[in-house]
Amino acid sequence: MVRVSDLIGARAAPSAPPLRLGAAPAATPAPHERRAFTRLYDDITEGIREVGEGVRKGGRIHAGAFIHQVRQLACTPEAVTALLPTAFAPYDPDDFLDRHTSNVVVLALATAEALGIQEENRLCVAFASAAHDLGMYSLPRELLYKRGALDISEAKTLRRHPHVGFSLLRSTRHNVENLARAVYQEHERENGNGYPEGVRSPEIAQEAKIIAVADTFEALMHNRPHRPGLSPFECIRTLTQKGRGELCPRVLRSFLAQITPFPPTSRVQLNDGRNAEVVAVNSDSPLRPVVRVDASNRASGERMLVDLSQTPLLSIASTLEPTRLPS
Ligand SMILES: [Fe+2]
Repeated sequence: MVRVSDLIGARAAPSAPPLRLGAAPAATPAPHERRAFTRLYDDITEGIREVGEGVRKGGRIHAGAFIHQVRQLACTPEAVTALLPTAFAPYDPDDFLDRHTSNVVVLALATAEALGIQEENRLCVAFASAAHDLGMYSLPRELLYKRGALDISEAKTLRRHPHVGFSLLRSTRHNVENLARAVYQEHERENGNGYPEGVRSPEIAQEAKIIAVADTFEALMHNRPHRPGLSPFECIRTLTQKGRGELCPRVLRSFLAQITPFPPTSRVQLNDGRNAEVVAVNSDSPLRPVVRVDASNRASGERMLVDLSQTPLLSIASTLEPTRLPS
């Protein structure tokens, strides 16, 4: 089987300079780095649009520079972290597919990072995410952006998109079996309730499991022509409740640890009125992080650490400043 890196190496633009990364922690990129990351995100979105256009017209897919940009993002964890807020920013629901796809790339890579996935497999996650909805571009726009519910025949057509994406990838001159398999399986579910084959967990590729979580969350979060998006809280609740049995628990935990509405350093107000700073995320309980409460002991000025996952009566009432997830 040809490795993803063989394909990427064969098609990357060798002269393109890497992103210049500073030594600053990922949470605080310098303004010029942030601009570079945003440009990379925009380039990837544009690349997805161009590739999708090729699919729509049934012509040859040109993806040279695009492949290099996706690879660059996969190899730059700082960029992935910095782009998380972008992935949560609203966009036009009547033209959602390009932004949806780049957001899934960002979210899936953040999850892969949390899972400790090595570079070779991270590249596969990145490319499979970028290609996961390729088949959607072959659908008529009136179906893709329909405002009402789909009828049975339309739903059946829509559910063919993993197969179409798989065939498109298989038709390239490269042998990308692992990539094509992940695209084919992105709607399979742990308990066998997915499609197109209805296979169960052990038969589903890890990359497909990661895309399933990122794709589901991204779609829940954003407006679509037929329904409004959910708040971050509602998204997390839906993902943890409805995802039970359907989404890989290990992947889901890693994902939630990455996309918590209360990342470290964010300022929050507790339900007893005290202010606090988040110092660590509980991956099993993303809405209940560990916080350092302001002036817990006024006499000594000591700031007490509280693990909110262990204090059922104490919880976060609100955030005090913008977090990664805009409300
Ligand atoms: Fe899909």
